[in-house]
Amino acid sequence: MKTVQTVNELKQIIAINNTKTIGFVPTMGYLHEGHQALLNKARADNDIVVASIFVNPAQFGPNEDLDRYPRDIERDTQLATDAGVDVLFIPSAEEMYPFESGITIQVGELSTKLCGESRPGHFDGVLKVITKLFHLIQPTNAYFGQKDAQQLAIIETFVNAYNFPVQIVRVPTVRETDGLAKSSRNVFLSEQERVEAVHLYKALQLAKITWEQTNDLSEAITKGKEHIESNTSGKIDYLEALSYPSLQPVTNETKAVLFATAVFFEKARLIDNILT
Ligand code: PAJ
Repeated sequence: MKTVQTVNELKQIIAINNTKTIGFVPTMGYLHEGHQALLNKARADNDIVVASIFVNPAQFGPNEDLDRYPRDIERDTQLATDAGVDVLFIPSAEEMYPFESGITIQVGELSTKLCGESRPGHFDGVLKVITKLFHLIQPTNAYFGQKDAQQLAIIETFVNAYNFPVQIVRVPTVRETDGLAKSSRNVFLSEQERVEAVHLYKALQLAKITWEQTNDLSEAITKGKEHIESNTSGKIDYLEALSYPSLQPVTNETKAVLFATAVFFEKARLIDNILT
C-alpha cells in the first residue's frame, strides 16, 4: 500500500492507472468494521482501491467536535493495508483547501431535514470535500454507508443531478453484536451510555413494527421516542420517518421508508436509521 499526502503525488498515481477500474472509499479515519465493509466491497469490485482519511473542517460546525474527533493514523494504516487498499490518501487541511475560492456548493431542501436541520452547513461541507476527492481520484465506483443515510441520499442526488461519472454503491450498516451501529464516535460514550446506546436501534425497530402493524406513523414515532426516553439518559435530537432517498413526507405511494434518529449523549451525538 502506498500512503500519499499531496495532491500532486495522488494525481500522478491516478494518471498511470487510467485504464483500470478504481474503487474509492472516503473516510474521516479512526477506522472500524463499518469502514472495513466499504473497503472489502471496493476490493472485490475494482482493480485499484483508493481510500482517504481526512477530518474535513468544512463539515463541522463551530461548536462541534472537530478538535477532538478521534484519530489513530498508525492503526488506520495497518487496517487499510490488511483490507487490501492500494493507495491511502491522507492530506492536510492546507493541501485540500490551499486557497479560499469564495465559491460554495449549497445542498438546499435535502439538507433542511434530519441531521441537516441541527447541523447547518454540514452537508455543504461534505459535498465540498467529496467533489474535490472525486475530481482528484476519478473513481469508477465510490462506496458509502447506509449508516449515514441522509449523506448517502444527498451524494446520490448530487452525482445524478450533475452527471458525475461515478457509480455510488450503498453498503449496509455494520453493527456491534448487541445492535449498536459501529461509529468512530462510540469511543466518547461512558460505560453506562454504551449500554443505553443500543436502544436507538431498538427504538427504530419498534417504530417500524408499530407503523407496519397500525399504519399510524405518528403513533410509531411516539412509541420510538418514548422508548429512547425511558431507556437512555440521552436527549433526542430527532426521530422521524421520511421517504428514501427523496426525504419527503411518507404517503401511500412511498416505496421505501427511512426511520432515522439522532440522540445527544454527554460527549457524543449518535445517529442511526433503518429502511423498510
Ligand atoms: P466517516 O464517518 O469516517 O464514514 C466514512 C464512510 O463509512 C461513510 O460512507 C459512512 O457512512 C461509512 N460508515 C460509517 N459507519 C458505518 C457502519 N457502521 N456501517 C457501514 N458504513 C459505515 O462519513 C464520513 O466519514 C464523511 O462525511 C465523509 C463521507 C468521509 C466526507 O468527509
